[in-house]
Amino acid sequence: MDIKLEEITRFLMQQIESLELKAEVANKGVVTFVGDGIARVQLKKVMAGELLEFPGEVFGMALNLEENSVGAVILGPYEHIKEGDEVKRTFRIMEVPVGDALKGRVINPVGQPLDGKGPIQTDKFRPAESPAPGVVQRQPVNTPLQTGIKAIDAMLPIGRGQRELIIGDRQIGKTAIAVDTIINQKDQDVICIYVAIGQKASTVAGVIQKLEETGAMEYTTVVVANAGEPAPLLYLAPYAGCAIGEYFMYEQHRDVLIVYDDLSKHAVAYRELSLLLRRPPGREAYPGDIFYLHSRLLERAARLSEELGGGSLTALPIIETQAGDVAAYIPTNVISITDGQIYLEADLFYAGQRPAINVGLSVSRVGGAAQIKAMKQVAGHLRLDLAQYQELAAFAQFGTELDKATQERISRGERLMELLKQPQYQPMPVEEQIAVIYAGVNNYLDDLPVEKVRLFEQEYLQFLRSNYAFLLNDIREKKTLDEEMEKHLQKSLAEFKENFVVSVDEAAC
Ligand SMILES: Nc1ncnc2c1ncn2[C@@H]1O[C@H](COP(=O)(O)OP(=O)(O)O)[C@@H](O)[C@H]1O
Ligand SMILES: [Mg+2]
Repeated sequence: MDIKLEEITRFLMQQIESLELKAEVANKGVVTFVGDGIARVQLKKVMAGELLEFPGEVFGMALNLEENSVGAVILGPYEHIKEGDEVKRTFRIMEVPVGDALKGRVINPVGQPLDGKGPIQTDKFRPAESPAPGVVQRQPVNTPLQTGIKAIDAMLPIGRGQRELIIGDRQIGKTAIAVDTIINQKDQDVICIYVAIGQKASTVAGVIQKLEETGAMEYTTVVVANAGEPAPLLYLAPYAGCAIGEYFMYEQHRDVLIVYDDLSKHAVAYRELSLLLRRPPGREAYPGDIFYLHSRLLERAARLSEELGGGSLTALPIIETQAGDVAAYIPTNVISITDGQIYLEADLFYAGQRPAINVGLSVSRVGGAAQIKAMKQVAGHLRLDLAQYQELAAFAQFGTELDKATQERISRGERLMELLKQPQYQPMPVEEQIAVIYAGVNNYLDDLPVEKVRLFEQEYLQFLRSNYAFLLNDIREKKTLDEEMEKHLQKSLAEFKENFVVSVDEAAC
């Protein structure tokens, strides 16, 4: 055997020259594996996120692009799909219906109505995933998004375009804060979107009913993927909701509020889906790119620049912790992506402090610029007084003798904590919040028994509405407290208190 090197080279060169390179685009593929809501399809050249059509008009979304095959999630019933079935490309990226027709509707993440109110009449669509606006396309947050919740608007103000996390254990009022905030957007020219991810159907039905009752459904869209539904739908839900909000921001330059309730369950759905797609698990069995999962979602919240016509998307993601553990993987991820967090504490909730916001551990990093001046004037004191109280209250538990100044601080703190309690479904207009907080930080509650504080608040507000409506109006319009307004506030408090103290004393007899 005597093969020459040149001969081999020549042979190879011939082969290469005769090779014809053609791009082949296959429009059809074959299912090679199916199970648990995901399918592997033998198909080349697919776009990431492209919709694939399975038999029976069921659609899937291409997620894992490999050399010869595609991992896809099936968005609908998959029991009838089997190996060998044909799959067609649609050349369309996953998109959802958007537009005014979505207001007042309840839909699933692929845009199908769930409320029995007929088809969604719109010819507008947006891709579920789209890039977040860049730095130059944004402007700083400077307009308040009033939640109507005293503790938040005073000490953790949220601005339009901000991302503020609501975090805490189960059943301690996370959803309540989000729903109250939506209810409070009535007449504030804000469109709301509530995305329910992996919750019980009955819980979501309760929320929708409340939104209906309070008239909030008129300006709200609810996107639902309940706990019983396949993981791909849960995965898609927040992106779909975000796309609906983006339409109002980019095309109509409106202000939008979106609630993701909750992203812990979203992360779990994503983990399930990733493991089925055979992505390697990473920390705490979450695949490596879980950070990207939530960062690309929350980065889409923005306040658009004037050049782009303005408009904003404010995001309130919710995270459920286990036994208050904020240091777990998903909580730390989302904390790092957002502009602050409202931290709810089980101990406070069960002690009757509701909303159970831990003021010390909560923060809003950008909302300060959005707070109206009048609120800033009264709330500065509030934070300070509460911080001092919390420090001293820990001492006082030991029953040590306390000097008069300390006792006063503690009793002031107790009254302020009482003042921050607020029932569900009763958001309060900002001017009324300012009036009662003014009373709290300026000694007007100090001589009342703690258990009378809330009665005082209620009746004082009634008194203001009927006798000082002009003052409430002034605060709302001027957004500041000038000397004259402050005098009126003091006068109103003095007048009201005279009668109130007498009636409280009489009741005690
Ligand atoms: N401010 C509040 N005052 C009184 N009850 C509240 C308040 N906030 C929440 N609750 C009640 O606490 C329970 C749990 O609230 P929910 O918002 O569903 O908790 P989570 O979303 O954290 O699981 C509900 O029964 C709700 O009515
Ligand atoms: Mg909840």
